Amino acid sequence: MNSLTGFARNLARALVLVLWFGLWLGPGVSSALPPGLGDAGAEIEHKFIGARKCKKCHGKELMGDQNGIWQKGPHRSAVATLAKPASLVIARKAGVSAPPSEAPECLVCHATAYGVPTEMIWKPLNPEEGVQCESCHGPGRDYRKKKIMDDLDEARKKGLWDPSAESGICEHCHNESSPTFDPRRYTLPDGSTTGFDYDQALSRIAHPIPEHVKGHYLELREEQKAEEKKAKEGN
Ligand code: HEC
Ligand code: HEC
Ligand code: HEC
Ligand code: HEC
Repeated sequence: MNSLTGFARNLARALVLVLWFGLWLGPGVSSALPPGLGDAGAEIEHKFIGARKCKKCHGKELMGDQNGIWQKGPHRSAVATLAKPASLVIARKAGVSAPPSEAPECLVCHATAYGVPTEMIWKPLNPEEGVQCESCHGPGRDYRKKKIMDDLDEARKKGLWDPSAESGICEHCHNESSPTFDPRRYTLPDGSTTGFDYDQALSRIAHPIPEHVKGHYLELREEQKAEEKKAKEGN
């Protein structure tokens, strides 16, 4: 009895997904992907450059090595996940016949800039790097320069998004269209449950700039460089 209702529920869920994707994706992949699916559901005004470009500055120890933290987190491996046996089962249930690693129905949320018009991609991204910085911080072609990055207002004008709870950026992907979305994944302080909770989710992927560095990175970096130079000359 229980397994039967479970089966019926899964079937209903699969049908909803099939209908949803069928409506939006049609036979091929149209550029009109549904809102709420990955970057393709976001308004893209600037070009993507890929995580490696951010690493140049955000891979530095002094900065807090955001790149290193991301490398070890769930987003970097989101494409690798699609090659796992569990993904095949999920895809079959959702009526997706292509291998998950090649299926637009999965890649829209598991890879950065998938389904985004090619003219909005400055340098091709490494598809193996899954959900990269720009899925949450916005395409970085125009804000990536040192002087702009150092000035939050300028950076926002050049496309740096604010991924806070209110902006709903996480929910581009963390929503009911995800076949693994579990409405009981997160427990709130009052004991109720929810499929996504910004504060708790952020704490699982936290990658802050160290407090004493925040707002002073460029000057501290100059000091660091000067010391390195002095040490070299001393030798
Ligand atoms: C472009 C789509 C996308 C966006 C935007 C996104 N995520 Fe994710 N997130 C994923 C995918 C896909 C996974 C599953 C990765 C895996 O298991 O391989 C995931 C997994 C996670 C996980 C681990 C699973 C869990 O719920 O504990 C956390 C935590 C998380 N994301 C937090 C966030 C936060 C916080 C934001 C917003 C600041 C965010 N994500 C924005 C796609 C996204
Ligand atoms: C709407 C965005 C979205 C789509 C579409 C999507 N995923 Fe995900 N996927 C996520 C997110 C977000 C997570 C993190 C867990 C969660 O909240 O669902 C995730 C997690 C996973 C996981 C890890 C299991 C877990 O519970 O953490 C697997 C496996 C997976 N997805 C496979 C797939 C496959 C296969 C497809 C295509 C049939 C797919 N996903 C389509 C967003 C998506
Ligand atoms: C899944 C979404 C997500 C991904 C992927 C992600 N970030 Fe973040 N990042 C956030 C959120 C949310 C915050 C905290 C809110 C804020 O400060 O804007 C944050 C904060 C930051 C901060 C500011 C920290 C501070 O102390 O103010 C930097 C710098 C940063 N991220 C850089 C990166 C870089 C570089 C990458 C890629 C290597 C990356 N992020 C990947 C969501 C993400
Ligand atoms: C040329 C170096 C450089 C590159 C490349 C760079 N950044 Fe930054 N970024 C900075 C500097 C400098 C700051 C300001 C640090 C401070 O607080 O003093 C900063 C700050 C940030 C912040 C924090 C904004 C806030 O809330 O104050 C985020 C988020 C961020 N960068 C994301 C990115 C992402 C994503 C990329 C790649 C698309 C990137 N950066 C590329 C140098 C860089």
